[in-house]
Amino acid sequence: MRKPIIAGNWKMNKTQTETVELLNRIVENYTDVEVDAVVCVPFTSLSKASELLDNTMIHLGAQNMFYEENGAFTGEVSPNMLKDLGVEYVILGHSERREIFGEEDDLINKKVKTAINHKITPILCVGETLDERESGVYLDKVKTQILNGFAGIDSGDVSKVVVAYEPIWAIGTGKTATSEDANNMCKYIREVIAELYEAKIADNVRIQYGGSVKPENISELMSMSDIDGALVGGASLDSESYLALLNY
Ligand code: PGA
Repeated sequence: MRKPIIAGNWKMNKTQTETVELLNRIVENYTDVEVDAVVCVPFTSLSKASELLDNTMIHLGAQNMFYEENGAFTGEVSPNMLKDLGVEYVILGHSERREIFGEEDDLINKKVKTAINHKITPILCVGETLDERESGVYLDKVKTQILNGFAGIDSGDVSKVVVAYEPIWAIGTGKTATSEDANNMCKYIREVIAELYEAKIADNVRIQYGGSVKPENISELMSMSDIDGALVGGASLDSESYLALLNY
């Protein structure tokens, strides 16, 4: 059985002061849920968030990480730095990192392997652009991202990776993929992982959908056979809507 995982991706939002306000509201109103609840806050909020989430059921995540442990990498943040702050999850290869900051599959693969080695759960993001969807190459695009993302990962570590399928055209646009389209892609990703390893390994991998997920559409998405959770941007920035997502 795959435990559902709902992760908020705050992106570049919330100062430390705003983080305290939002997390206090979330923690005060949190009621027991049957999902892994995660918030991926900006680096500058991790320390405060770590204090506030200590002894709660909400897990802490970061939005990026470098693959080296220390050294001359100006502006980067290492896995040890994240571990030291109690970070349990890290989003890797988000389409905004790929598109705006030029991150490519081999860099992302190094980060995924590093996260596993440091016992931080990587949330590996994949997804196609609108052009790729419309020209019909979307399956190949996502297959390549999965094959490259999992390159060199031992079969025993595969289920430690969470995959997030996020069609780029659905991120922050209000356009959600239909539940069927989203599920078909998540199923396809599972097949690709099964080909690479074996079916029973792929069956244990949690695959999230992301892209304009909101309280109004989450229960239908979560009812699909191969969607095991959601990676949520905009709707995770408000305590009521984040809690509604957890209680879908
Ligand atoms: P969105 O973002 O929910 O605001 O569409 C999702 C994401 O980019 O992770």
